[in-house]
Amino acid sequence: MLNQKTFHIRLIYSGALLLILAFVFAVLATQAKAKQTANLIAEGKQIFRFDTFGDEDFWGGQLQLHQAIQGEQFGGVGPGVSPATALAVGLKVDVEALPKPLQRQLKQGKVDLNDPAVTLALLKLNAVVGVTGFFNDDGSLGSMGIQCALCHSTVDDSFAPGIGRRLDGWANRDLNVGAIVALSPDLSPFEELLGVDRDTVIAVLNSWGPGKFDAELVLDGKAFNPQQVSNGVVTGTNVSGATLIPPAFGLAGVNLHTWTGWGSVPYWNAFVANIEMHGKGNFYDPRLDNAAQFPIAAANGFGDIRNPVDLITPKLPALHVYQLSLLAPRPPDGSFDPEAAARGQALFAADGKANCASCHVPPLFTEPGWNLHSPTEMGIDSFQADRSPDLMYRTAPLMGLWTHTTGGFYHDGRFATLLDVVNHYDTLFSLGMTDAEKADLVEYLKSLGDGPGKMSD
Ligand code: HEC
Ligand code: HEC
Repeated sequence: MLNQKTFHIRLIYSGALLLILAFVFAVLATQAKAKQTANLIAEGKQIFRFDTFGDEDFWGGQLQLHQAIQGEQFGGVGPGVSPATALAVGLKVDVEALPKPLQRQLKQGKVDLNDPAVTLALLKLNAVVGVTGFFNDDGSLGSMGIQCALCHSTVDDSFAPGIGRRLDGWANRDLNVGAIVALSPDLSPFEELLGVDRDTVIAVLNSWGPGKFDAELVLDGKAFNPQQVSNGVVTGTNVSGATLIPPAFGLAGVNLHTWTGWGSVPYWNAFVANIEMHGKGNFYDPRLDNAAQFPIAAANGFGDIRNPVDLITPKLPALHVYQLSLLAPRPPDGSFDPEAAARGQALFAADGKANCASCHVPPLFTEPGWNLHSPTEMGIDSFQADRSPDLMYRTAPLMGLWTHTTGGFYHDGRFATLLDVVNHYDTLFSLGMTDAEKADLVEYLKSLGDGPGKMSD
């Protein structure tokens, strides 16, 4: 029989053991959860960089774009696309995908950058950011697909211009999407959708220019803004309807996305993967059934897309988490004047003379909540707003502005410099700012960013 003392000691020991076990389990569970989150981010990164969602059936299968890339030499059409041409239209090369001997040869100028065969070699190495080649057994290109990274990544140019480490989330403002698509031997999918001939499709694609893409063209068929107006002044006629590629970083906490607030990040990811990239998935948005606003989308049933196998929906959670994990990078030291920026911050604040923070609320720099404004409020024409369900413009989050200063500002890049933006507000809201105050505000805008300075991995 157990005496009472031994019984008590055993009770204490087993209690302690239970506590220790509970602690160990709690630690393990926390670690497992952290690992799950880390896995989700890693999975999302892989999708963002390399997943085509099956869109090669469109870019290769239908447009035959791969045939223009490899050229006659490899059984395609035309001269082919050399690395020099690819870099000139803004495509980027991931240096980390290049074997060391090839890096050496490149440095020594021993690689012929005018030879399309080199482009094929780069595609085989998975080194062209945002583009995947699918190869035949004989080494020729059988098809190709595109990824999110095509438009929303660039490289840090650490090796050479256009060649470096990946910077995910950065807008590729060098990329001439229209010029690339215009190379396609077969543009009939666009001709049929838009009801125009090949020459017209090509003219529209070439009107976009670098850093821009028109996501609404295949919904409403409107290629040009008849009259661009800022503060009552006509600043252009028949301006391309394409918008600037925005960054895909710094979006955590932001409610509505895209220039005109189409929806949340996962909404837009599904939209783009299905409707723009032509991946194979399911997509629902009855707003696209509005034939008056979106005649092409309504006629083609874009509001209810089904594919027998859905290659997109299962990827949305990880893709979402990865995008939210991308912070807006901090500007490099010396890229702005800190004292002027501090004065600019005071002007920007909600109680400051410029009162920018009434809409661009720090630290999101957009409104927490409903972040849309009417064209009239913004002092600009309604062309692009009218191409979206809410007929509004979204308060652009300003973090990391310094990474996308080429191509201009506002959705269509109508303001060439930050000073032009500030001048627009000065007139619109009768702020009465002095030149020195405007300059301070610009320095503050250049200073915005919260993540690490460099974003490669
Ligand atoms: C061909 C270029 C291109 C590709 C490929 C592309 N995007 Fe975009 N993305 C754009 C453009 C242009 C816009 C702005 C659209 C608008 O406002 O109408 C945009 C907007 C966005 C936004 C909103 C950003 C903000 O400012 O709130 C997100 C998020 C986004 N894209 C994510 C993705 C993801 C994820 C993929 C891949 C599934 C992808 N994009 C593929 C060009 C592209
Ligand atoms: C009434 C709300 C509102 C106020 C006030 C406001 N903004 Fe904006 N801001 C917006 C909206 C909406 C956009 C997007 C316009 C577009 O895309 O055409 C924008 C865009 C911008 C952009 C361009 C971002 C880009 O990526 O191109 C900058 C820079 C900017 N604002 C700075 C400021 C500054 C500086 C002030 C104060 C002088 C200010 N804003 C005041 C709503 C506002």
